[in-house]
Amino acid sequence: MRVNRRGVAMLATLVSVLACAPADEPPPATHPASASAGAGEPGPASAGAGEPGIGDPDFPEDGNGGYDVSHYDLAIDYSPTTKRLDGVTTVKATATHDLSSFNLDLTGLNVRTITVDDAQATFGRKGSELTVRPAEPIGKNDRFTATITYSGVPKPAKDSANLGTYGFIPTSDGAFVASEPNGSKTWFPNNDHPADKATFDFTVTVPAGVTALANGEQIGQPTTAGGKTTFRWRERHPMASYLATATMGKFELRQGSTSAGIPNLAATDPKFKGSLDSLYTTSAEVTDYWSTVFGPYPFSSTGGVVDDYSAGYALENQTKPLYGGFHPDEAIIAHELAHQWFGNSLTISRWKDLWLNEGFATYAEWLWSEHKGKKSAEALFNENHRRSADDAIWKYPPGRARPGDLFNQSVYTRGGMTLHALRKSIGDATFFTLLKAWTAEHRYGYVTTEGFVALAERLSGKDLGPLFDAWLFQPRRPA
Ligand code: ARG
Ligand code: ZN
Repeated sequence: MRVNRRGVAMLATLVSVLACAPADEPPPATHPASASAGAGEPGPASAGAGEPGIGDPDFPEDGNGGYDVSHYDLAIDYSPTTKRLDGVTTVKATATHDLSSFNLDLTGLNVRTITVDDAQATFGRKGSELTVRPAEPIGKNDRFTATITYSGVPKPAKDSANLGTYGFIPTSDGAFVASEPNGSKTWFPNNDHPADKATFDFTVTVPAGVTALANGEQIGQPTTAGGKTTFRWRERHPMASYLATATMGKFELRQGSTSAGIPNLAATDPKFKGSLDSLYTTSAEVTDYWSTVFGPYPFSSTGGVVDDYSAGYALENQTKPLYGGFHPDEAIIAHELAHQWFGNSLTISRWKDLWLNEGFATYAEWLWSEHKGKKSAEALFNENHRRSADDAIWKYPPGRARPGDLFNQSVYTRGGMTLHALRKSIGDATFFTLLKAWTAEHRYGYVTTEGFVALAERLSGKDLGPLFDAWLFQPRRPA
């Protein structure tokens, strides 16, 4: 789902109408061309070929141009013993220009067949680019369905710099699936960039006794036959590919709903059995509290999953944050659930704007602490402001996350401090109105730093240029 620049105003109108619709109303599908290779800009590919990147200059090969995905249907059969995955991915998309070919992102794995609108297509592979040549060219604005049948042993993405291991990570009893920023290509062919969100259906088959946990809500009861169980899940709200999961393993579950009535599911690996109740109750309490601070919860269920893979991080997988091998405390649950608004419902279309996810989620941790009568956001801001002038966070301007060091601590902490500096400048009433206006205006859509600054200025009536410049863009400690 994408929108082009001209479509932004139209989408904003559409979204404000939709914001009044019940949360289960599936929103429309669209993608921000702010990140697209750009109409009119001659791409490296020949006329009629879809661009091999979506146009994020920091990640030139991520995502693809020339089409806009509205829905993925993933069928996956996985064996934790052989670590083999058999998959069929159905991609429903609309061409944004005439296409003689288009690309999907997929790393490793063997592609057996591809059809486009039921006709056999030919394809080629080069690195993580899968180029599909349909039997008939696809016309601009035509909807098409591509079905990719593939299999193999998925290999997670490994990045020595600072991303660690991510994507599809095999575990002894299943798999830990956390794909931010660009690891969804390790387990299914897709447009692997947040600038093209889509709805998802999952059909996951695992050995009986193993549980498969994907995004959204379960459709029907799992069915078991021939020693295998099939789980069906559906995420009916737009979702970035990096938030898709099909985490599998032995899990203890606790299900119910939050006090406000949002379905809640907590799942813990047997090694983290002791975390099940606190994960369940804290996730419920946090979801309901954030709904009062940030605006209505954007999705149809909440919860969390603790697996025994020591990832060294958690990921805000849509509706089901995943905690990698540790007991999640209230702060991290508050963080990952804040991402359901900031990152998941409101999605960045370029990675450089990552502070709109991580700065907000970090500030949410401070708001949670304040809400619980622990340290105030002001105290936490001050503690950080006192860091010495040569602390690394002052050299790294968080408003421009760097591709080689995306998740730098500055993007989190100094990003969060930016929001506190803003709160002090415009006052609590305007600040909290702004948070709700921001989430309402871009619900299920795409956001940019410029858009946030503009809204903050509009609601406060202040020139906030100097404040944002000092906090987000200067390589030194703001006064
Ligand atoms: N968004 C996650 C969080 O806020 C961090 C993901 C880091 N990804 C990675 N590959 N290390 O905690
Ligand atoms: Zn985060």
